[in-house]
Amino acid sequence: MRHAQLPIVVVGGGAAGLATALAMAPAPVRLLCRAHDGRGSASALAQGGIAAALDPRDSAAAHAADTLIAGAQHNDVAMVQWLAAGAPAAIAWLQAQGVVFDRDAQGCLQLGREGGHSAARIVHAGGDASGAALVHALRARVQEAAHVQWRGGVDVDGLLLREGCVAGVRTRDERGRHERIEASTVVLATGGIGALYARTSNPPGADGAGLALGLAAGAAARDLEFVQFHPTALDVPGHCLPLITEALRGAGARLHDGGGHALMAGVHPLGDLAPRDVVARRVAAEQAAGGRVWLDATGVDGDWARRFPTVLAACCAHGFDPRRVALPVTPAAHFHMGGLATDADGRTSVPGLYAVGEVACNGVHGANRLASNSLLEGVLGGRRLGELLANTPVPAPGSGPLRVVERGESLPPAQLAALHALLWQAAGPVREARALRDAWRVCAALAEAGWQARLAKALLRAMRLRRHSLGAHWRQDRGCPR
Ligand code: SIN
Repeated sequence: MRHAQLPIVVVGGGAAGLATALAMAPAPVRLLCRAHDGRGSASALAQGGIAAALDPRDSAAAHAADTLIAGAQHNDVAMVQWLAAGAPAAIAWLQAQGVVFDRDAQGCLQLGREGGHSAARIVHAGGDASGAALVHALRARVQEAAHVQWRGGVDVDGLLLREGCVAGVRTRDERGRHERIEASTVVLATGGIGALYARTSNPPGADGAGLALGLAAGAAARDLEFVQFHPTALDVPGHCLPLITEALRGAGARLHDGGGHALMAGVHPLGDLAPRDVVARRVAAEQAAGGRVWLDATGVDGDWARRFPTVLAACCAHGFDPRRVALPVTPAAHFHMGGLATDADGRTSVPGLYAVGEVACNGVHGANRLASNSLLEGVLGGRRLGELLANTPVPAPGSGPLRVVERGESLPPAQLAALHALLWQAAGPVREARALRDAWRVCAALAEAGWQARLAKALLRAMRLRRHSLGAHWRQDRGCPR
């Protein structure tokens, strides 16, 4: 049995962290989040939904095949099969937790279509508010759960190590006060790195802090070079941009250039619903040539307030009514396929430290994640890990001294903004050797100034080492045609 005195600490309140904490019952869990209300996670912003082969004409094998194609066959095949096979059960579990998915007039679950999918298999909630509905329901379950103690408003900025094993965390609250929490096990469910880029669809908290912490503790990383760029964020000034869900293109919206020409014509057989990396590079190429790209959704039928309330509200807030005018769009950093290397259960290379969801890399997404597989992985991976930890005997804590491994100071705001711009320019949808090398040198020079520069240096190193294009990692200098 677990040691009675020490809880498991889960860091992060998105889909993966919530699912992990719920599945650990009855083992005591402390769930630590930066946000107070659970809204700060990228999960809560996810629009499209959750992929699951639920149509009788569809199959887990087809879902797996699409996942492998999107991932450029760089995926771990066993993990892909596990993900696709578990998807229908994940939907059923979410319904049991109170997530209400959208249904058609006959009462059947509505299945949407997104890029890279050979069938309509995206289950969604509140139209395009799937992530918000999921986080809301799971958070309500967590708050009812007697075994989970939730604490918001804290940043985990250090890991406690004893005799080579992770033995807890150090937190920093909003007033800068540090506290140590000893734990039997620490699970990082801290999300991705999108906010390290100047243009992202992620929230500001998706800044790679958990990945940086794991690396500081010596955990091995995997596939750090693979960053997915969503092709359609709203092209307005700012850092964290509103996402324009791919489901809109699934519903008939089309991309065009400034001259009104179909952007994806002749580029890929799936046209506007080509895999994200293909569409994102096409949009980026148009921008690099001095043009602007537009998404025309004015022909999308139906009740926008019901089907696409999130997109409608975000666009209207910026003065664009998508029912009447085409929307300016830009690629934006969206998802990190790489992360802390884990096995199928979430174990990192550091004893006592686990990772799940976007911060982790178990190989399931390969070189490019298929649309609507991320909430799915968070839920399935979190439940798998939670159940494992609940049933894993833990030895009594050692008696050696505790050591704190710190993530380190943050870059000052001006240097951080410059780093975001540098990564966008050198490590974005299109990369080449010289820009990667120069950016790496800048980050190496800044490495002592802030943890974001050290993390960026690790990312850039992986991007430099993979000299050929694969999936979302596109090397313009040595790119294979695709
Ligand atoms: C989208 O709605 O376009 C994004 C969904 C995803 O990232 O899978």
